[in-house]
Amino acid sequence: MERKWWKESVVYQIYPRSFMDSNGDGIGDIKGITSKLDYLKELGIDVIWLSPVYQSPNDDNGYDISDYQAIMQEFGNMEDFDEMLAAAHERGIKIMMDLVVNHTSDEHRWFVESRKSKNNPYRDYYIWRDAKDGREPNNWGSCFGGSAWQYDETTDMYFLHLFSKKQPDLNWDNKVVRREVFDMMTWWLEKGVDGFRMDVISMISKVPGLPDGPKDKDALYGDFGPSVINGPHVHDYLKEMRKEVLSKFDTITVGETSGVTVEEAVKYAADDESELNMVFQFEQNDLDGGEHGKWNLNKIYLPDLKAVLNRWQTYLEGKAWNSLYWSNHDQPRIVSRLGNDTEAYRELSAKMLATCLHMMKGTPYIYQGEELGMTNVPFASMDEFRDIESINAYREYTENGIIAPEDMMKYLNYKSRDNARTPMQWSDEENGGFTKGTPWIKINSNYTTINAKEQMEREDSVFHYYQQLISLRKKEPVIVYGTFALLMPEDEDIFMYTRTYEQEKLLVICNFSQKERELEIPEEWERGTILLGNYKDAAVGRKMCLRDYEAIVIKK
Ligand code: NOJ
Repeated sequence: MERKWWKESVVYQIYPRSFMDSNGDGIGDIKGITSKLDYLKELGIDVIWLSPVYQSPNDDNGYDISDYQAIMQEFGNMEDFDEMLAAAHERGIKIMMDLVVNHTSDEHRWFVESRKSKNNPYRDYYIWRDAKDGREPNNWGSCFGGSAWQYDETTDMYFLHLFSKKQPDLNWDNKVVRREVFDMMTWWLEKGVDGFRMDVISMISKVPGLPDGPKDKDALYGDFGPSVINGPHVHDYLKEMRKEVLSKFDTITVGETSGVTVEEAVKYAADDESELNMVFQFEQNDLDGGEHGKWNLNKIYLPDLKAVLNRWQTYLEGKAWNSLYWSNHDQPRIVSRLGNDTEAYRELSAKMLATCLHMMKGTPYIYQGEELGMTNVPFASMDEFRDIESINAYREYTENGIIAPEDMMKYLNYKSRDNARTPMQWSDEENGGFTKGTPWIKINSNYTTINAKEQMEREDSVFHYYQQLISLRKKEPVIVYGTFALLMPEDEDIFMYTRTYEQEKLLVICNFSQKERELEIPEEWERGTILLGNYKDAAVGRKMCLRDYEAIVIKK
């Protein structure tokens, strides 16, 4: 297997709006990020994935871009950006930009032109269709509720938006659109950025004719998935992007690919680097989905999680590269979802989850605050939410009598994206040291105890544990390049696997339960040494007793 810097890296995701506010307007900004680069350096990460900082009317917090080559005013300006990039590079930290090109904002110049007339030169940049039988061109629902089509009076036609109606989908079948996107990417790479995380990139190519999607009996809309996800030309377009842009630079690229299977992933993230370096799979997150999609209180069943991760680890071996993540700005906090966020177990389970993830094969991603064991947020009422998905879902499900309001509140508290978007907790000062003003979204009240300052001062904190995980990766090639093998796939409490690289071998044992578990480990490990663990006094033996949420990494 070829050695690559992006295989050996650890990526840290920054959600700029909530990371650090430098000017007291309650909104995180670029100067705020620059001021925290030393913190990231100390943690030891190699690459920052920067959620969008481009000009945007913020219908979807920057994932609706109105100018790809300008910085959102609330975040600063291009000078601030250049300064941050240089300061990051000085510290050996790379910057990966978010590339949101399935759609633009409806306030983007291209769309403003496009909607003016049927023969406007920008018309075909977007996906316009006539009404069908006096209504929307097909039955697709959008990800944020309602139809995926918006009627536009000016030309008496509909445009497609898979997300909000302020996020019209670009028409990737138009080669002029592809040229525009490739030129814009080149402009950023020439500026010195180091790569791209590509938003919903598996959805850019749509099946011609845009046929109706399957619809459940009681559902309001049909599913666009079969016509959109891993669509007919997605791999052609990404190969073209590789040839036209990426092949000319040394980049890190990751595709956000909902609906991706392992069979598709080996095309997107093939070792020959003909498309991207890696993808984010969604199968692990879909495991607690139910009748109403993500809105429920379901818990992920450990054998199912192991089956998914095992499939990704083994199927991609020798063919493609994995990304490893528990959290991001679209997911609730992992310690609340998969661990245990009560006082007694929060740190233990956060460290256990980190061990389990970082010891697998792939490039690990840390979402801001995960390294502190930040938790979900107790939201008391709807007016505390800011996320368009949460607000629209509440409305759609409660107003149509599908979910009772009090149940929907519980589901939002458990799964809303806003759980990940409250301000980074820097210290126990007012507003967690995030802002001197009023934060744009409420801060989690537990900042007085869970914050970076406290974590950095205390030897056995989650922060220092992440630091150790990252530095181990730099010392032990087996962590990066070793092959993965799952043991005890059916066990409901223990996640145990090995990694093997040349003469080196690791055994990773993670107890996902709040109970002690007796365990016999394979003989070859009984004289192994402990490389890392989340309890101080762990010992290796043929028969072991794993304590609540214990994690141990044993080296042979
Ligand atoms: C995926 C992004 O991660 C999410 O935050 C956003 O709402 C959608 N794509 C639309 O861009």
